[in-house]
Amino acid sequence: MATKIITIANQKGGVGKTTTVINLAHGLTLHGKSALVIDLDPQGHCARSLGVKSEGGANYLLSMGLGQSETQFVKQQIRNTNRKNLWLIPGDVSTNHAQTTINSANYPVSWIRETLERFTGNGLDYILLDTAPSVGGIQERALWAADLLVIPTSAEFLGTDGVRNISQMLVKLQKNLGWQGSLLGVLPTMFMERIREQSASLTDLEQAFPGKVLAPIHRAATLSECPGMAQTIFEKDPASRAAEEYGMFVKEVLRY
Ligand SMILES: Nc1ncnc2c1ncn2[C@@H]1O[C@H](COP(=O)(O)OP(=O)(O)OP(=O)(O)O)[C@@H](O)[C@H]1O
Ligand SMILES: [Mg+2]
Repeated sequence: MATKIITIANQKGGVGKTTTVINLAHGLTLHGKSALVIDLDPQGHCARSLGVKSEGGANYLLSMGLGQSETQFVKQQIRNTNRKNLWLIPGDVSTNHAQTTINSANYPVSWIRETLERFTGNGLDYILLDTAPSVGGIQERALWAADLLVIPTSAEFLGTDGVRNISQMLVKLQKNLGWQGSLLGVLPTMFMERIREQSASLTDLEQAFPGKVLAPIHRAATLSECPGMAQTIFEKDPASRAAEEYGMFVKEVLRY
């Protein structure tokens, strides 16, 4: 299959983007696929979550040209995660330099997609992009790079604001920037159905994005313990509801 680029984004912080990237990536490899995670967030959380050292690989990827020797150097930034067919290009604070350069030199909106072309078509099934909780040059180009976009949304932010943000993001991408990818879905995270407002706002979200709201991931302490143990939910607690829910999400992604 052609390499699919999946971007996980939401400008809100702490809505489960990194958790979703890590568990989706590992889940896909457990189905025999190969996946490269790229951490475009200067916080560098993907590395810790997978038990890898946080480093400036993403900055090199974003800043270096497309020539042969630069490509070779960028490929050397790929780290093994000690999991079969799962690799990472980690990020760290140096990604802020790339953000500044991309913003000030006004790189084309296609820039990140172009930098990723060196990885595609070599038998790699998925590239997953984790993004920072902000808007800026990297975020916009990471969205544009996506064949498929996943928007995790914490149940607390589900309501009108969340819907408005997501709608604005999609309109901008499709109408103003000529984005060719599609929305895979909005993923409600940290969901608690006993809280009536959360169930009500899930209904609002379904009305705003018919057929695009994925089955929610419930709030679960076991998920929040995963990063500290450098384990995915499929390693830490495979029998948990959280593993089952992320497992269903993985199967949904495999349908595309
Ligand atoms: N379903 C869940 N239940 C409980 N805790 C969760 C759940 N999903 C994520 N968490 C925890 O919530 C915190 C925020 O999640 P995460 O880091 O994935 O969000 P993020 O959107 O990537 O944040 P940031 O915007 O800072 O990058 C983490 O401590 C994570 O372990
Ligand atoms: Mg994150």
